[in-house]
Amino acid sequence: MARAVVAGNWKMNTSVAEARALAAELRESIGHMEGVDRVLCPPFPYLGMVRDAVTGSTIAVGAQNMSQHEKGAFTGEVSPGMVAELCTHVILGHSERRALYGETDEAVNLKVEAALKAGLTPIICVGETLAQREAGAAEAVVERQLVKAIDGVETPGALIVAYEPVWAIGTGVPATPDLAADIMGGVIQRVLESTYGATAASATPLLYGGSVTADSVRGFVEQECIHGALVGGASLRAEEFAEIVRTTAEVKG
Ligand code: 13P
Repeated sequence: MARAVVAGNWKMNTSVAEARALAAELRESIGHMEGVDRVLCPPFPYLGMVRDAVTGSTIAVGAQNMSQHEKGAFTGEVSPGMVAELCTHVILGHSERRALYGETDEAVNLKVEAALKAGLTPIICVGETLAQREAGAAEAVVERQLVKAIDGVETPGALIVAYEPVWAIGTGVPATPDLAADIMGGVIQRVLESTYGATAASATPLLYGGSVTADSVRGFVEQECIHGALVGGASLRAEEFAEIVRTTAEVKG
């Protein structure tokens, strides 16, 4: 059985003071829990500070992106080694990076390999747009994104996969648990099984992301094939994020 995981993607939000306060509050409320991994993903400049703020708790910290390159003349980029010095996880292939920064399946694949090499746990994001869903291509898109992302990755040991339908992100209207389970228990599970075998596949945490709130999370994590959530907007509100974590622990515990 895969571990339950709730990750907060803060995106490009918070000031230094707000990030410090948010991390400190979460350390108090959900700093010491069993049965659910908690990962905070602040903007790059705050990684070290947030790590320090949660030291002594079992909260993990992750980046929201990284370069596939080890080092060199890549102005403005952050290497896997730099990320790995400060934290343990990294979100890769987020739809905002694919849509706004032209990140391709090939780039995501290189980043996944580089992250694993650096000892990081990649949270690989996949998901279709509304137009792709309406064209009946949701499954094919998710399959292609996942197959390419893990191409050449021999063991799934450290992988986490997040299904984030683009049409549900930041809209306030999440997918339904049944729709998410169709994709996650269907095509995502199938790709992992055919690549790694049933045992390893079933140990890979699958997260739903897209307008998750304290009210909506229960329906998702009640699905057997959904092990947690990747939370955007609601992860900026300490009490709400803590409630999402507690509900996930209660349902999955
Ligand atoms: P929202 O929860 O704000 O919809 O964002 C989801 C997301 O993109 C997390 O990575």
